[in-house]
Parts: sequence; structure tokens; C-alpha cells
Amino acid sequence: MITTGSILLGSAVIHRYLNDKEPADNPLPPAVEKIHRGNGKKVLVLMSAGTRLGNTDRLADAYIKGLVERDHSVTKVYLGSMRLEGCRGCGACQRPARRCVVQDGMQDIYPLFTECDTIVMASPLYFWTITARLKAFIERLYAISVDDKYPSKDTVLLMTAGDDKETTFEHPVQYFRVISQVLGGNEKGIYCAGGCTGCEKTARNIDKKHLNNAYQMGLEL
Ligand SMILES: Cc1cc2nc3c(=O)[nH]c(=O)nc-3n(C[C@H](O)[C@H](O)[C@H](O)COP(=O)(O)O)c2cc1C
Repeated sequence: MITTGSILLGSAVIHRYLNDKEPADNPLPPAVEKIHRGNGKKVLVLMSAGTRLGNTDRLADAYIKGLVERDHSVTKVYLGSMRLEGCRGCGACQRPARRCVVQDGMQDIYPLFTECDTIVMASPLYFWTITARLKAFIERLYAISVDDKYPSKDTVLLMTAGDDKETTFEHPVQYFRVISQVLGGNEKGIYCAGGCTGCEKTARNIDKKHLNNAYQMGLEL
């Protein structure tokens, strides 16, 4: 017997079958942008919001504008445009092969991370902390650790959030400081932009003062 529910479900499945493209025909937009080649530092910006041109992306771009004016080399990676898993904890990277077995966007990030002087982590505040994407990147650094030692990098944190309280960014800032220590203790700046309008409204908005402050920070790296 065919019920009304299964007819509905069946037609939805047929509709999807006829209209969906295979993943191979429907690629994600390019995730890695080489923005500038300069004579200064090599800076890798990880933009971990899922939305391009949102608050976090604009904050990151304001910071990048300052970097480019100082002739630093800048590569920007959109983590939201990659498939990126957290660490599986399989331990393969700590055995003789010494490589991560997970074949995803992180394989493109490893060489960029190895060659950069400065890593900029840009994230919206999600449930009082950084995005899962950025956390996945951090977990996967385990694959390039040797005896629990990590490469030394200058570190920068850029964040946006809806709230604007003294405690709004408390957890991610504390966590970022721990990660900065793991990466050699060369923290070069934290900018947290509270009071942003997010996806709950049709138009996102980040105050211009935040963009200007991030730009100034970029000039000063
Ligand atoms: C899943 C989710 C969780 C969020 N959690 C918080 C939060 O804990 N505190 C807060 O102030 N804002 C929170 N927000 C708001 C975003 O941090 C804020 O709108 C941010 O500027 C969005 O950045 P974007 O435009 O780059 O996506 C959350 C938004 C989403 C979508």
C-alpha cells in the first residue's frame, strides 16, 4: 500500500535526483586566494566564517588591506569553501609515515602553514567560541607536530560577534592564547568586534570603526 506520505517523500527524492548535480559538477568556489606577493612577512589568513562578504570576512579584509600596504605577502584561505575534518586521532601522523591520512582541504593548508611567518585566525563567535572549522584546522596541526612540539609562528586573532559585553569573547581569547603559546608564544594582536548584526537580519553589518581599527592593526604587524 502506498501512503500519501511516501508519495510525497518519493516525489521529493525524484525531484532531487533530477535537479541535483553530482558534487564533481558542482565544485566549491576557490578556497585559496594569493592576495599579494611582497617583501615583508608571509601571512596566512584563515577566514573561518561560512559566509563570504559577511562581518568576519570584511574584518579580515580590512586587516589584509593594512598588510598589503606594508608589502607583506598575504594568502587568504576560506575554510568554509573546503571540506575540512577534525583530527581522527588515528595516530598515523606520529608513526614513521608521518603524514595525515585524511585527504581534505588541510592537505592544501599544510604547505601554506609551513611557509608562513604569521597565522591570522578570523572567526565569528559561535556559541561563545571559535567556529568548528577553525577548531578542525587547529586539531589537524597535530599531524605536523614532533614530540608534541609545533612550528613557531606569529599569531593574530580577529573575531566578530552579535553581543558586545566585557565577557563576550572571554573563552575564545583564552583559548587563542593557549594556542599561541603552543606555536611559540609570539602573539601579535587580537581584535574582537562586538555588536555586529548577523544572519538574523537580511543585511549583516559591522561598524566601520571596527574595520578601521583592524586596518590600523594590519599596518602595524
Ligand atoms: C551558529 C551561530 C552561533 C552564534 N553564537 C553567538 C554567540 O555565542 N554570541 C554572540 O554574540 N553571537 C553569536 N552569533 C552571531 C555571530 O557571531 C555574528 O553575527 C557574526 O558577526 C557573524 O559573522 P559573519 O557575518 O562573518 O558570519 C552566532 C551566530 C551563529 C550563526
